[in-house]
Amino acid sequence: MVDVRKLIALAIVLLLIPAAAATAGDAKRGLMLAKQWCTECHDISGHTTSDQAPGWRSIANDPERDLDKLHAFLQKPRQPMPPLQLSKIEIEDLVAYIKTLKAK
Ligand code: HEC
Repeated sequence: MVDVRKLIALAIVLLLIPAAAATAGDAKRGLMLAKQWCTECHDISGHTTSDQAPGWRSIANDPERDLDKLHAFLQKPRQPMPPLQLSKIEIEDLVAYIKTLKAK
């Protein structure tokens, strides 16, 4: 006999996995989004800061900066950032990518 409760538990677990993955942010997707939208101004992986915009490695490694505050910034970027229309998930992914640049 199949244990129905086990099946239900399994179904719940399977439903929760994608939700958890989405809130944690996917750095690989973040990198892809960054290459599409952000490299025009930002050095997204190197060490340099161009005249135009801060490099992300220096943002990630700035001890004064709380990287979790980047979510709020990216929801409503201020000038001179362009008025990006990023979805919540895109923001999670981009912040996840920026966090990977932090020196351990
Ligand atoms: C048109 C040029 C331009 C593009 C495109 C751009 N940015 Fe920026 N960004 C800037 C500039 C300039 C600053 C510095 C703003 C400041 O210091 O006030 C900045 C600052 C930032 C910061 C630091 C915010 C802070 O708290 O100081 C982050 C994070 C950031 N950008 C992320 C992104 C992401 C993610 C994308 C792509 C989705 C992107 N930017 C696309 C120009 C750009």
